[in-house]
Amino acid sequence: MKLIIINGPNLNLLGKREPEIYGSKTFEDYFRELKLQFNKVELSYFQSNIEGEIIDKLHEVGFNYDGIILNAAAYTHTSVGIGDAIKGIEVPVVEVHISNIHAREDFRQHSYISPNAKGVLFGFGLKGYNLAIQSFL
Ligand code: DQA
Repeated sequence: MKLIIINGPNLNLLGKREPEIYGSKTFEDYFRELKLQFNKVELSYFQSNIEGEIIDKLHEVGFNYDGIILNAAAYTHTSVGIGDAIKGIEVPVVEVHISNIHAREDFRQHSYISPNAKGVLFGFGLKGYNLAIQSFL
């Protein structure tokens, strides 16, 4: 099973960024734990703050992986391009958000990812990535 986690803008700051919302663990530390926990899964990780790089990565992995776990962060709410990329690829995408986006500002209520996602997980903290991997297994 070959899975990739793709994280969008500002998620490189996890651990430092608004810890009351996103927690105090870095994604690198969490990813190390995930790799140990799911040691039978070929699990990779990509993060970018640049919309086009996320689209390029979706194109690159979108025909030859078993699953994509995508937290497009702020681009979730703005990016027609990432939404279209998900429509254009074959690999199923599970959308993840660390926070409960529906308990936050109005502009976070809309997602360009959800209509084309296999499923959506939000509000479970970093554990959402863990649940997304389990959904593929
Ligand atoms: C987020 C929620 C988004 O609204 C926000 O822009 C993020 C992170 C989350 O994981 O909760 O950067 O995707």
